[in-house]
Amino acid sequence: VSKPSKDTMLPSTAPNFLPSLRTILLRSFQNAITNSRFTLTPSDPQLQAIIAESAQAGIHYQCNNAMSLFGKLKAAKALPNGVKSRGDVATTVLSNLDTSDFQGGETTFEVPAIAGTGFINIRVTSHVLAQRVHQMMREGVSVLAPSKYYGKRVVIDFSSPNVAKEMHVGHLRSTIIGDTLARTLEFCGVDLVRLNHIGDWGTQFGMLIEYMSDVAKSGSAEGLDPDSERVADLQVMYRAAKKRFDDDEDFKTRARVAVTKLQGGDPDSIRRWQRICDASRREFQAIYDRLGVQLVERGESFYNPMLAGVVEELQKLGVAKESDGAMCVFVEGREDPLIIRKSDGGYGYGTTDMAALKHRLNVEKAEWIIYVTDVGQASHFDLVFAAGRKAKWLPQDETQSPRVSHVGFGLVLGEDGKKFKTRSGDVVRLVELLDEAKDRCAATIQEYRGATVQTEDQPAPETTGASVSFTPAELDHAAGAMGYGAVKYADLKNSRLSNYRFSFDSMLSLKGDTAVYLLYAHARIASIFRKTDRDVPALAKVTVPILAHPREFELALHLCRFTEAIENLLEDLMPNRLTSYLYDLSEKFNLFYQDCRVIGSGEYEESRLVLCEATAVVMRKCFHLLGITELYKI
Ligand code: ARG
Repeated sequence: VSKPSKDTMLPSTAPNFLPSLRTILLRSFQNAITNSRFTLTPSDPQLQAIIAESAQAGIHYQCNNAMSLFGKLKAAKALPNGVKSRGDVATTVLSNLDTSDFQGGETTFEVPAIAGTGFINIRVTSHVLAQRVHQMMREGVSVLAPSKYYGKRVVIDFSSPNVAKEMHVGHLRSTIIGDTLARTLEFCGVDLVRLNHIGDWGTQFGMLIEYMSDVAKSGSAEGLDPDSERVADLQVMYRAAKKRFDDDEDFKTRARVAVTKLQGGDPDSIRRWQRICDASRREFQAIYDRLGVQLVERGESFYNPMLAGVVEELQKLGVAKESDGAMCVFVEGREDPLIIRKSDGGYGYGTTDMAALKHRLNVEKAEWIIYVTDVGQASHFDLVFAAGRKAKWLPQDETQSPRVSHVGFGLVLGEDGKKFKTRSGDVVRLVELLDEAKDRCAATIQEYRGATVQTEDQPAPETTGASVSFTPAELDHAAGAMGYGAVKYADLKNSRLSNYRFSFDSMLSLKGDTAVYLLYAHARIASIFRKTDRDVPALAKVTVPILAHPREFELALHLCRFTEAIENLLEDLMPNRLTSYLYDLSEKFNLFYQDCRVIGSGEYEESRLVLCEATAVVMRKCFHLLGITELYKI
């Protein structure tokens, strides 16, 4: 498999990344702590600078080291002369701080102040916020991407449904979460490979292939077009094949033989297997198209030719050994081994994952591999990673490159808190689910616009000022953006590890933390621009905003914290770091818009239009990373 070389994928020079405010503070305070020369071992965790966002009004960040550092120094009887309290520790640290960034005015931060408890309180200057917003508007929002991921080679394995089996809500979660992680990595300039590790190899094919060959002989079929052997409806065909498998002993035996024939590369079997994969592929693609998700298919069958070699290698390395007739990798701290060859000689899920790991490291040259599956597979991946370390394919130190991460997520539940099913108790078809979200949005929009039209003279505060005309194509576009966006957002806003309840009513609500609400919020900003003749994007390139009002300051600070939201997301691979950032942004904007008149505000008008534009730009970038299509009028 060829991959584009790095230079065709990425610009030759790295963009001008701005370090986040938190990063600047971490560096400065790290130096200050180091230069304070406390007599502790240099690797002592208490010597690592801790910088947190502050919840206190008017304080933006704080350095929280003094408390734990004081405790540690006291316990180690290592308190420097004259240091008697946490406050004294904080004073020592401050006296070692390089003050160039901390002088107020045109520097980055005000002079830090020590609270009685030893916290060092830090305020950002309005100067630096205005400059940063200006730089973002001039050079593009990508200056706010964290720099440390730039140019890294990363493989992300997500979605990964199984052929001939239903693509279920779990795969939907993997698709949605994986896509956001992928988009965020790409935003940071990562050289990314998005792999769809579909389950396209295994015993389920014996039954289906045998069924197809029966049909070819008898001519009658369910779910299959007998002349072309085109699979018309895989679900129907699967059910018919399964029924025959359960009812007919002879068929069962033939199905088992068919698996071996397929594995042996028999041309008829391969052709039929391909037809089945094609049918599944069409179904998967319908989902990816709706969601706007891009993936490179590299299913389990791709690794099939490598399995025997991998088992042999692991055996030679002494990493795998035989146990009860099976070939196993035992790892420290785990009783259950990773089975890489079953006692009947067959290869399984674990074998494929070892082959895939090796391929991704050696051929793809991955520096980081990310796997997105339900939490139920966490222990499988722990085993695979431990086996990889045992084979020395991966470094012993987990924090060293190449790294591997399993991104687990909880179950999707119905509104009743039970397993997610249709009313009739069937597995929910994903296409139907997405269609319903869209249809419901179309209805909501029409209803809402009806109300809007009636109050045109006196627009309600929620109106977006859109023109009355809304073509069917516009309605369709808006409904899709909202419906699919709502499904994605409702998933992403949860801490991924918890189970989440799927509820159309709550995800499609116009109020609260929903994509629908946020899309309206964005459209409302767009409507402000329709009330002025100015070319706001052009204005934003040449205007440094004035941050005179506290609401303006708070909004600008939050805009600049976009970098930190991305850093947080990639640190623990939690998309909800970004959804909560986006929701807070809309709140900060609301407060600003409530207290600061924009159009007709005289000397402030230009500056405030720029703040509106900057908010819209950052919101759109968030939408983009969350895989949501923005709307300008609804
Ligand atoms: N096909 C699997 C499933 O449906 C997910 C595969 C995840 N990726 C992997 N490399 N094992 O559960």
